[in-house]
Order: sequence, then C-alpha cells, then structure tokens
Amino acid sequence: MSEATTTMAAREWPQALSKVPYWVFQDAEVYRAEQQNIFHGPFWSYLCLEAELGEPGDYCATFIGEQPVLVTRDFDGEIYAFENRCAHRGSLIAMDHYGHAKDFTCVYHAWTYNLQGDLTGVAFEEGINGKGGMGSDFCKRAHSPRRLRLANVHGLIFGSLDNDVPDIEDYLGQEILDRIERVLGGRKPVVLGRFTQNLPNNWKLYIENVKDSYHASILHLFFTTFGLNKLNQKGGIVVSESGAHHVSWSAINREAESGEHYKDQKIRSDSEYQLEDPSLVDSFSEVGDDITLQILSVYPGFVLQQIQNSIAVRQVLPTGVDTTDLHWTYLGFEEDTEEQQLVRMKQSNLVGPAGYVSMEDGAIGGFVQRGIAGASGEFATVQMGGQEAVSSESRVTEASIRGFWKVYREAMGFSIEESK
Ligand code: FES
Ligand SMILES: [Fe+2]
Repeated sequence: MSEATTTMAAREWPQALSKVPYWVFQDAEVYRAEQQNIFHGPFWSYLCLEAELGEPGDYCATFIGEQPVLVTRDFDGEIYAFENRCAHRGSLIAMDHYGHAKDFTCVYHAWTYNLQGDLTGVAFEEGINGKGGMGSDFCKRAHSPRRLRLANVHGLIFGSLDNDVPDIEDYLGQEILDRIERVLGGRKPVVLGRFTQNLPNNWKLYIENVKDSYHASILHLFFTTFGLNKLNQKGGIVVSESGAHHVSWSAINREAESGEHYKDQKIRSDSEYQLEDPSLVDSFSEVGDDITLQILSVYPGFVLQQIQNSIAVRQVLPTGVDTTDLHWTYLGFEEDTEEQQLVRMKQSNLVGPAGYVSMEDGAIGGFVQRGIAGASGEFATVQMGGQEAVSSESRVTEASIRGFWKVYREAMGFSIEESK
C-alpha cells in the first residue's frame, strides 16, 4: 500500500464475494477513503475521447473521482493532463467542460500555465518598484500542477494520478482490449451529443447495475417486449482475470422469442404492444458480426456501450455519498452514411435518462439507496450464478458484480472476515 492510502482495516468485509455490506453505499468515511484509495490509486480512469481534442489548444476539463483534471492537446500534437488546480491558492485553472486556448490564466491572481501544465507566469512576481513580490527563492518550475499518466486505447483517453499504475494493456487484459477494438478499432468517432444525468445514489450502485446482466431483460420491459434482449438469446459474460472489468454481450435471435422462459417467470415478453414507428429498432450490423448488444466496463468508472447501433461512452463520477454524475457521450463514426447516422440518432432514444430501455436505471439506484436506509448492518445477496467472479456463457449470473467487489475490497484495505 502506498503512503497515501487511507487504511480501512478496522472495517470487516465478509470473505464470501456474494455478500456485500450495505454500509459501503452509505458511509462518509468510506466515501472519503475511496477518493484516495481508488480514484487517486493505481487504476485507470476514463477522461475523454481523443476525437474531442482534435486541434492543438483544445482542452477538456473533467474529473477523476472528485479530483478536477485538465486534458489538453499542445502544439506538439501530444495530449497532456494535469490537476485542474492553481498552484497559488487552489482555484480551478479552467472552468469550461470543453474549450480552446493557447494557454491558461487563473482568474483569481492571473498566474498562467501553458498547455502542458507548466506554471509560466506569476503576476507581479518581482513586486512593484522593488517592493513586494515573490522573493528570489521562488521557483516556478517547483510549483506546476501534478501531471497525470495517460493512455490512449482506440481513441479513449485514460489517466491515472498514481505513477505506479500498470500499463493499460496489462490493466485491461487481452479480452477487454479485443472488445474495445471490436467497437472502436480503426474508426474515428464523431460526437453526436452529450448530457449529464444526476443519479440519486452512491456511484457503486450504478456500477453494479451496469455489470448486472441479470436485471437487463427483467427491469427493462422494453427489451423483452420488442425482442431486443432476452436471457435466452445467444450471449455471455466476460469477466477479466482480476475481476475488475467486464463485458456482457448478446446477439438477436428471433427464435429465442418463442421460448416460454419469461412466461414461466411471469415476466412480460410478448404482448399486444406495438411500436408506432418500428423503424426505431431497425438496425444494421455494427461491425459485420451478429452481436447486437455489448456493454463493457473498465474499473472503476467507465462504460462503453453498443446497444444495437447506439454507441456511447459513460463516465461515472461520484459527487457525494448518495449522489453521482453520469456523463454520456453518444458516438457515430466519420465513415457513417447519412442513413446510418439517422439510425444512430433514432436509437439514442433507447438509452439515457429518458431512454425507452434505460430510464429505469436512473431510478433503480435511488430505490436501493432508499431501501437500505436503516440496514447498514445487513448484506446484499449476490450469488446468482455461484460464488466466483469468472466468465460465463449464461447471463443469468452476477459474476461480474462479484468481480468488482473483489478488486474494490482489496483496494480499500478492509479486513476480510474468515468466518462469513
Ligand atoms: S489562485 Fe490562481 S492565481 Fe491565485
Ligand atoms: Fe439497466
């Protein structure tokens, strides 16, 4: 453990991966420790798209956890990232989420920074008429904001505040890399739109939801009603070796619709409901295979989504114990035809805060947060599909949720209770 790690050894966590204590979603001390151990720890966090920094001078002000960071493209063509906090008295250096600048001037006392984050100017450094000023021992070089380590994976820019983070290839592993490449490899994304969704719940409840292939076709009746995703369709779950990352995928198979599985469970799966405009769910093969849904997560807080032809990246940012900002960016690709872009725009109605498919995800975390109030001594049961955190051909499993907790509890340094 690095010195900066906040030890949580006084807290006990059950040995079984299938038991998750509810206090982990409620406790302010845990929340503070996460900022240090996870978001400042040896992990990679998604920052922005390379395509969003097309020109030298383009920048993006974003976050790793609560930590503000600034990502830039300098005139040497390279991408840089550094803490978005003035070395003087701590003001944000840049305010706008996206912008373009030759350099940055802090609004408070006009200290300046170049696009690589070096402190280049201090207003009245020499004082006036030999009086005041910074003194001769002040060295600007020693006061530049901390730089981040950066990695670019098929146009996704990841950053880490910990220099000891493993290389991104080792961090993700080949299976996850391959699935990112499947969607983004060799094509240049175009941003079709963005929005931020406020969630009334702890960030980890949203991560659980993303990794939860079990709920998708049950909570989201649109999926089953219109045959977009059923658990009896061809599909599976990939859990990375460490447990940290996951992929859930499926392929539309119209035969699966005639199965009795959902009727047996009393879940609506066929009905008199018809879409007024069926073209909403018309789609083209995204990359030449039959996979119509691929949800991929990278620990701790990144999601790459392909739902039919709706491609999006999501950045999960905690803003408090029971509040989370979810940033969505919808993508097309430069080589898309006009028709394809139209399909993508139509299908963007399926997901997001008001999406036909996923509006429930914006509410369910809040239902859990409210449901567990008063139950900090109790545990969630996460044992669908067994006790392990491994890949599976069945999506009736919570394996990838267990994988998240496996990595999380270790990073947090909880004591493991052998007896539970
Ligand atoms: S806080 Fe930035 S110049 Fe003073
Ligand atoms: Fe969902």
